Amino acid sequence: MCGITGFTGKEPALPFLLQGLSRLEYRGYDSAGITLVNSKKLRTWKTKGRLAELEKLLQKDLTQSCGIGHTRWATHGVPSNMNAHPHMNEACTISVVHNGIVENYAVLKEELIKEGYHFHSETDSEVIVQLLDYYYSKKPVMKDALIKTVKRLEGSYALCITTIFEPNTIYVAKKESPMVLGQSKEGVFCASDAPALLAYTKDIMPLQDGQMAILNKNSLELFDQNGKSIQPKFIHFPYDIQAAQKGGYDSFMMKEIHEQPDVIRETLRGRFRGNKIVLPKIDELKADWNSISNTVFIACGTAYHACIYANSLYQKYTGKPSSVIPASEFRYCDPNVDEHTLCIFVSQSGETADTLAALKLAKAKGCTTIAVVNVLGSSIARQTDAVLYTAAGPEIAVASTKAYTTQLVLLHVLILKLAELYGIKVNGISRLIKDMKRLPELTEETLGYEKEIKKYAKMLKDQRDAYFIGRQLDYPSALEGALKLKEVSYVHADAYYAGELKHGPIALIEKNTVVIALATQPEIAAKTISNIKETVARGARVILITDPDMDAKEFKYVIRIPKMRPELMAIPSAVLTQLFAYYAAKEKGCDIDKPRNLAKSVTVE
Ligand code: G6P
Repeated sequence: MCGITGFTGKEPALPFLLQGLSRLEYRGYDSAGITLVNSKKLRTWKTKGRLAELEKLLQKDLTQSCGIGHTRWATHGVPSNMNAHPHMNEACTISVVHNGIVENYAVLKEELIKEGYHFHSETDSEVIVQLLDYYYSKKPVMKDALIKTVKRLEGSYALCITTIFEPNTIYVAKKESPMVLGQSKEGVFCASDAPALLAYTKDIMPLQDGQMAILNKNSLELFDQNGKSIQPKFIHFPYDIQAAQKGGYDSFMMKEIHEQPDVIRETLRGRFRGNKIVLPKIDELKADWNSISNTVFIACGTAYHACIYANSLYQKYTGKPSSVIPASEFRYCDPNVDEHTLCIFVSQSGETADTLAALKLAKAKGCTTIAVVNVLGSSIARQTDAVLYTAAGPEIAVASTKAYTTQLVLLHVLILKLAELYGIKVNGISRLIKDMKRLPELTEETLGYEKEIKKYAKMLKDQRDAYFIGRQLDYPSALEGALKLKEVSYVHADAYYAGELKHGPIALIEKNTVVIALATQPEIAAKTISNIKETVARGARVILITDPDMDAKEFKYVIRIPKMRPELMAIPSAVLTQLFAYYAAKEKGCDIDKPRNLAKSVTVE
């Protein structure tokens, strides 16, 4: 995720670009840059760090009336001045900002190097400006060069391009990354999201996939990938800027819950070739996989729950020994790890002090280390032997939602890869991969239960406690559901293996106690159902989350997850329990994005 702005008009471009980027900082904030155009040259300023760092570099009296801007959330190449956008061609005649992922950048880069091009950054985006330069040098018509360039790009992109050849013109293109356009008396604008434009106009046109545009001082031309003209269609945006930054939702948590179909899609992008798993960073490790006798998953908080899920999957798919240890315990439990141990660290921020300390110990003991991290170039990412990135984008709400589900997805892919490297065949892998590819749409379908969840969350209004139960792969979902509820609504919640209820916790079940029961694993669901009946018999109100085939006639509040392989059910389960926590918190008037006593990233022990 990154934020893009572009302006061409009668007024200076800089004020629009900067205010637009500040409205888009929620999309990324590890580096920022702009290019301003005058008739003789492109002037570019860019820097690692937040927008404020960029502003320090700029003079106040820059009056150029055409320019583009970018605020970055790194995905290829660490946050650095060189990797910051805009990227320029060698002659500094073309400047590009990009949001998205160019999957085939390595192939394109090699091709361009053979043509004599030089690359300066580690980004995938730099190939775009060099490709534009290449096609423009063959035929100096920028519209044609753009059409040819985007035809070569696999993956996702929102592009904003400015050149010295047409100093008042901005070229725009979009596929699977957002881009909106707008026009006012000041000029013509583009941006990654509406909040950047709302101070200027409320009539906004979201660009569709495959569409491109040419923005001029007071005109806007839209065309498709064959250069055929398209009629622009504007939509009136009723939101104010604040609301629009949250996508019209009342909190970042809710916005981030709804982003999950997209970020899961991004996390899975390019990971499969037939039944083979594509994780080049793991191949490059060149570890002696057959000498790995033990695997340990290590993390804190929500990421620790992702590890519990991963640990069960790992044992199921590989049949090899593994365990899961909270990072805060790892250093003190004298872990039995050595050079035959694979340690997998999971962290949204990549900066959690306990996880980092556990990583240092694992390295000192000679373990092979892999990290699953969201923030590119973070401390944990830098210090492991191999790092895989979830593509969740910046997570602003303290309670983790989209980072968690992308961790589940990426850990799943990693474990399949490890099975492949161990030479173990996973049963039903084709079906599994097919369902994984459908996860974005299945998650979208799950979000359709929001109304029911909202209604059920009202049950917690006068309750002090709630219980989450589940067996096997439903257990991490129960733990995460309980954690989410505690974090944002302050309702006390506990999670138990469903079979453990009768060994103690059932003493707490009385009339109207709320129990969230997860029974998504067909092999064991019948057992969970009988545990649920024990709670119903004591007056509990049970919300049952189950698969489409389960016989659940006797239960009043039932949510059926769309049909998919049981190993994947943890993802929709998480979405449902996140919604439940959100609505419970809303019911109680809590500060959902900033729960009391909690920090987004805990960088002290
Ligand atoms: C804090 C956050 C949690 C998070 C945990 C681990 O406690 O409030 O939401 O799960 O840290 O953070 P990490 O960045 O390592 O995933």
